[in-house]
Amino acid sequence: MLAIIGGSGLTQLSNLDVSRREVARTPYGEPSGVLTFGRMECGEVVFLARHGHDHAIPPHRVNYRANLWALKEAGACRVVSVASVGGISACLNPGDIVIPHQIIDYTWGRKSTYFDGDGASVLHVDFTEPYDRQLRADLIHAAAAARIVIHDRGVYAATQGPRLETAAEIDRHERDGATVVGMTGMPEAVLARELGLPYAAVNLVANHAAGRGQSQNGIRFERLEEVLRETMGRVRAILAHIRRPADGRQ
Ligand code: HPA
Repeated sequence: MLAIIGGSGLTQLSNLDVSRREVARTPYGEPSGVLTFGRMECGEVVFLARHGHDHAIPPHRVNYRANLWALKEAGACRVVSVASVGGISACLNPGDIVIPHQIIDYTWGRKSTYFDGDGASVLHVDFTEPYDRQLRADLIHAAAAARIVIHDRGVYAATQGPRLETAAEIDRHERDGATVVGMTGMPEAVLARELGLPYAAVNLVANHAAGRGQSQNGIRFERLEEVLRETMGRVRAILAHIRRPADGRQ
């Protein structure tokens, strides 16, 4: 089954034919909200709103460990994250969609591993390629099938939030090689890797990053929500076109 974690602007999936909802509990606490099961054009799906149904959980307080654990327990065998970002590269504009291929993690103080209990074994996962290669290819294929233009590469800077960045911080992220910036990509991606769940992301550019383009003099939040509303239809179309795994599993 495919899991979809929806971020800002995607608290529900209108093209999901809902069959049931389930409150999940995990050894790591409660996930952000109920798990919603149903069918989409691409098959069986379980959906979770990352910030809660009423968008009340800020990025640094999301229980990422509980979210990934609950999705795996529910039977998910791959995870697509949908998340809004600021565009750092000059070629990115509000409304653009990016399938990132790399991550730089600037977050701190988040519970970012399942392997930290007393007496737990030490485990170092390989994270050279933070996103699953096959699932990224499936997303890129889905966008082409849905005739939606996307950027098929991107370097995601994960910042702590909940505040937005300063213009100088964005300059630094760009010097580091980042092309988009968001607040939720980590530790979500690495926790999925620790659980052995293939994970990839669809990033929606909601705004030019701080100090860039239209955000030269600040970021306008009203405009941001408008862009997310306008773009989400294209994201839903991409999700609907994700092909099933070649081995015949859902
Ligand atoms: N910075 C960080 N996260 C974001 C942004 C941004 O500019 N836009 C949407 N999510």
